[in-house]
Amino acid sequence: MAETLTVAEGGKEEKYSTLYRQICALNGGEDDIIARMANTSAAISSTFGFLWCGFYRVAESGGELVLGPFQGPIACTRIPYGKGVCGSAWAEGKTLVVPDVNLFPGHIRCSSMARSEIVVPVLNGDGEITAVLDIDSAESCTFDGTDASWLEMICRSVATGSRNEKG
Ligand code: SME
Repeated sequence: MAETLTVAEGGKEEKYSTLYRQICALNGGEDDIIARMANTSAAISSTFGFLWCGFYRVAESGGELVLGPFQGPIACTRIPYGKGVCGSAWAEGKTLVVPDVNLFPGHIRCSSMARSEIVVPVLNGDGEITAVLDIDSAESCTFDGTDASWLEMICRSVATGSRNEKG
């Protein structure tokens, strides 16, 4: 039986706190990472209403990312290593916060409405990047360190299916 998602209210911290608990509860009992990605992107979107939220997975060929579960308008299906914000986060092995996508060299424009973006790597148990979480906002300067740290915790839950790190 699917859990009911209560849409979080309050400020950003409060929303992430509620969202994180929900995501851990959903992911903690699920072995399939695609299912975890699907519900995670839906939960983030329900909470924040971002323009686009979803996962790109490292393709079996290894040289590019391929579109995974997401919420939002149609998106490009393949992103080469090192290209765009997603491919750069993968290549640099770290979260990238982009306050203005127009100022990011090589930004891949899937929607003309995108203004700012955050991309967070998803690591497996060996510390290898297997996917990235990509979130696009229709407003500039949407994301900061608060988003980065919560979304990094959310990505660890997606990667491992682990329960709440905060107990
Ligand atoms: N913004 C991404 C491309 C993917 S879409 O926005 C969904 C990038 O530059 O990597």
